Amino acid sequence: MLSLDIFSILTLLLSAKFVPTALSQSYAPNAQFKGKDFLGAFNWETFDDPTHGRVNFVNQGTALNTNLSYADDDVFIMRADYHQIVPSYARGRDSVRITSHDAWDESLLILDLAHMPEGCATWPAYWTASKNGPWPHGGEVDIIEGVNLNSNNLASLHTTPNCTMPQARNHTGQVISSNCDAAVNYNQGCGVASTTPNSYGSGFNNNGGGWIVTWRSSNAISHWFWPRNAPNVPNEIRQSESDCDPITPGDNWGTPDSTFVWSQCDYNPHFDPHQIIFDLTLCGDWAGNAFPTAGCGPGTCQDLVNNHPEAFQNAFWEINSLRIYTPQS
Ligand SMILES: *[C@@H]1O[C@H](CO)[C@@H](O)[C@H](O)[C@H]1NC(C)=O
Ligand SMILES: *[C@@H]1O[C@H](CO)[C@@H](O)[C@H](O)[C@H]1NC(C)=O
Ligand SMILES: *[C@@H]1O[C@H](CO)[C@@H](O)[C@H](O)[C@H]1NC(C)=O
Repeated sequence: MLSLDIFSILTLLLSAKFVPTALSQSYAPNAQFKGKDFLGAFNWETFDDPTHGRVNFVNQGTALNTNLSYADDDVFIMRADYHQIVPSYARGRDSVRITSHDAWDESLLILDLAHMPEGCATWPAYWTASKNGPWPHGGEVDIIEGVNLNSNNLASLHTTPNCTMPQARNHTGQVISSNCDAAVNYNQGCGVASTTPNSYGSGFNNNGGGWIVTWRSSNAISHWFWPRNAPNVPNEIRQSESDCDPITPGDNWGTPDSTFVWSQCDYNPHFDPHQIIFDLTLCGDWAGNAFPTAGCGPGTCQDLVNNHPEAFQNAFWEINSLRIYTPQS
């Protein structure tokens, strides 16, 4: 006969409460974008770059006509113009910023990326942000971001107040900043630099890119990166077409590149459903300010953008696929 003292009951209750059920939860395919799918699933934004970059974001029709966006059955490419001189009175060099029509909350994003924009003056980002906003309400999750000749990817969060990250977390990355509140530190956010080789820029591209995986749940947001030639890419990540098999995120994936947890930041008031965004801006608040010390001179960031179209030949995104999974009910 089973007899339990009060201590055992307490232990049982506590362990039941703290079993991390989401760790073993499986996620089912929800959406997949490949090649021309991007044309129907994303909006080509045309507003002034909010980060003050020297770019002219063009609409989808213009982007397709000028080949700044290109899609076939297998691949989707978007880029900055690398042919024209930009007059000083123009808004900036033609470039592209796209936002998904749909938004996702808890989800697994698997990006198979062949190439990211690289070079002096560039500031590319693959990120998600609240559909409801207004920013920073509902949060921002930066998955791939960097500037100029950087070689290490920076993943970060930007939020409303009262959201910080503990210094010690289970990831391989290096903590750069820990206050996610967009209103402090000039909107630096809380960032983690990848320590995996070839996570950004020319190193990433010369290596054929790789897989960037984001798992967002009420337990954490974690990012994994497997370079193209990594020996340990999980099969469910490597496969390019989604079959109908569900995926258990994190299962035998090893320690993430970066992870963000909710011990000092309540998840619900800070995050809601996010749209997915890819953009490429030039100069502006980050790339422009970092340009003088980035080994990109002589000359200014603006001069490079205006007068040296050839500098932007490698300023393009080449996406093999983006697969999205959501928790199975
Ligand atoms: C448009 O871009 C694609 C991808 O870079 C390239 O294969 C194609 O040749 C380009 N088309 C033209 C007309 O330049
Ligand atoms: C860190 O995460 C890895 C991979 O999920 C896991 O194997 C390991 O036990 C974790 N370490 C700690 C200290 O939690
Ligand atoms: C700040 O967040 C903590 C949890 O991380 C919560 O207990 C506290 O009430 C929050 N404070 C405010 C002012 O929202």
